[in-house]
Amino acid sequence: MSLRRKDLLGLEDLSRKEIDRILDTAERMRGIVDGPVKKLPALRGKAVVTLFFEPSTRTRNSFELAAKYLGADTVSVAAQASSVQKGETLLDTARNLEAMGIDAVVIRHSQSGAPHLLARALSASVINAGDGIHEHPTQALLDLFTIRRHKGRLEGLKVVIVGDIWHSRVARSNIFGLSKYGAEIWVTGPATLLPPEIEALGVRATDRLEEALEGADVVNVLRIQLERQAGGYFPSLREYSRFWGITREKLALCREDVLVLHPGPMNRGVEITSEVAESDRSVVLDQVRNGVAVRMAVLYLLLGGGIAVG
Ligand code: CP
Repeated sequence: MSLRRKDLLGLEDLSRKEIDRILDTAERMRGIVDGPVKKLPALRGKAVVTLFFEPSTRTRNSFELAAKYLGADTVSVAAQASSVQKGETLLDTARNLEAMGIDAVVIRHSQSGAPHLLARALSASVINAGDGIHEHPTQALLDLFTIRRHKGRLEGLKVVIVGDIWHSRVARSNIFGLSKYGAEIWVTGPATLLPPEIEALGVRATDRLEEALEGADVVNVLRIQLERQAGGYFPSLREYSRFWGITREKLALCREDVLVLHPGPMNRGVEITSEVAESDRSVVLDQVRNGVAVRMAVLYLLLGGGIAVG
């Protein structure tokens, strides 16, 4: 069983059937993550490199653990400690790593499209671990997986994405993924952080948080990305928190069994209160665990895992 593609660059160009295959495989991988012996020989003899030009805790480490749990060898390249600092280009860096015999590159880069550039140049598989404000496909896959596990379906759910929609690759990938399942997707945040053309992606957009939250099944709270903002999108963090922060009181507008997601890292007290983050409606740490399973599935399916799983 495999995906009939070399790379995973985004959810926009994945079919629903391909996403189903990843999520179904992740279900079996989650059993391995939860089990007593987290080791399979499925990718023995394969080598995976993580090449991160931006900070990461969840994505990089979960890709590395995912590869190790499947028996692959891993190397981690932090751009700050590499010859990029001496002026080597992204393409030269990747070509040199490929010359060492790697089978997959997991790349995070501040420039939208950087993984696509590598995918065209390399024979190795390229996996997008977040490119600029474009896509973060494995984050959306783990979000879909988490929602499906808790709700039993994706079809027809009202999913609200709250916050900095403009700069969010997580929002874009979630929109591409969820729309393939017929979810009712709402995006909400300050008007300055809602792209004018966003409704062309088939979502409802409003700067009235309460309208969006009404009857929601899922609330996906985005991190305020101060590093991508030149400033001036909202007056202050305190103001953002007051109007857009997800509190227990605002959550009361949603369905009683609402799920609260956050991709992390959380700015507690800004976009989400600790009370909500720690509540029984929050599945934030379950998302992280599911991230390992989803990334195992992606590596397994792209690299043609040699043995049956599950
Ligand atoms: N959600 C996410 O991408 O987290 P990291 O930046 O820690 O990888």
